Amino acid sequence: MKFATKAIHAGVHPDPETGAIMTPIYQTSTYVQRSPGDHEGYEYSRTHNPTRTQLQDNLAALENGQWGLCFSSGMGAIDTLVKLLKPGDEVIATNDLYGGTYRIFTKVYENYGVKFHFTDLGNAENFEKLINENTKMVWMETPTNPMLTIIDIETIAKVAMSKNILSVVDNTFASPYLQNPLDLGVDLIMHSVTKYINGHLDVVMGAIVGNDATLQERLAFIQNACGAVPGPQDCFLVLRGIKTLHVRMERHCENGRKVAEFLKSHPKVDKVYWPGFADHHNHVIAKKQMKNFGGMISFTLKDDSIASAEKFLSTTELFSLAESLGGVESLCGHPASMTHASIPREERMKSGLVDSLIRLSVGIEDADDLIADINQAL
Ligand SMILES: Cc1ncc(COP(=O)(O)O)c(C=O)c1O
Repeated sequence: MKFATKAIHAGVHPDPETGAIMTPIYQTSTYVQRSPGDHEGYEYSRTHNPTRTQLQDNLAALENGQWGLCFSSGMGAIDTLVKLLKPGDEVIATNDLYGGTYRIFTKVYENYGVKFHFTDLGNAENFEKLINENTKMVWMETPTNPMLTIIDIETIAKVAMSKNILSVVDNTFASPYLQNPLDLGVDLIMHSVTKYINGHLDVVMGAIVGNDATLQERLAFIQNACGAVPGPQDCFLVLRGIKTLHVRMERHCENGRKVAEFLKSHPKVDKVYWPGFADHHNHVIAKKQMKNFGGMISFTLKDDSIASAEKFLSTTELFSLAESLGGVESLCGHPASMTHASIPREERMKSGLVDSLIRLSVGIEDADDLIADINQAL
């Protein structure tokens, strides 16, 4: 099946009892057994739930993977992935990544003896330089949050595979519509399902997708043992959101291009970060590994101060100032004080995350209205 068909049909089936076309919300914690161990494959909803199973199967299909696992948040999925490691293991991660990921790595897992190295994986050779015998995982996020750096997934995955290093891509910004990292050779994909996949700013959820059966077994064990699972109502909402993922993403990309081009032409704007520009550092790689360039854009102001960024952010009307991204509603944010506040200033300045940097999640409203809103705010 092609993507649009998979978004609507993969992994989901009409309810065998009633014929209901929509996956029912199995709002149950437990399942009756005829005699101990004699059941329909479901015993307890932390372990399995039929609404979650259909969502997991659908997500696996969207990423061209063999299996999927859902979690109560993107952070729950990241937490589960790090639990594959043990004290003494080392991780090489891109230095421009979601602040919460940086926080769990440095503030939680360093205390358990896992070591993290941060480097610009936008230059693939930086990866090899940091590999040693303890390196067990490489963590990519591409496009990165918020600098929209593009990492060459295939090149990094190839090096990782040759050295027995587990490769992971946080595919949240691209969504499975724009990019399928398993096809490029990575071992595991994680998503903040909260973002484009659900698309309607009404659910918090995470997912992991992969091909390897041993990894599935280990991760499903942690999922059940630690318990960061989503409820069936949220799984239902995400299944509904996914049915329009391809249509929404097309419009996000179309609007993203128009907004990025407008910003680039504006006299008060300094830099515009969007991988669709031919002069973007890794535009050629973006073109190779992504179907289109998405609706996430970051830009800086010529007056590079927190005050001028705050003025813009409190003046927009259609772009709501809020955490999160990937919904049909346009959002704007100030990474330095919001999503990336947990990253020290010196660390964020290294990757270009300056005080006036503003991040836009361009929604699917009318592009002319969005541009008019940005124009009046500038
Ligand atoms: C790229 C990225 N990864 C992971 C996360 C964490 O996901 P969640 O907020 O669903 O826990 C986020 C949240 O903003 C994100 O933007």
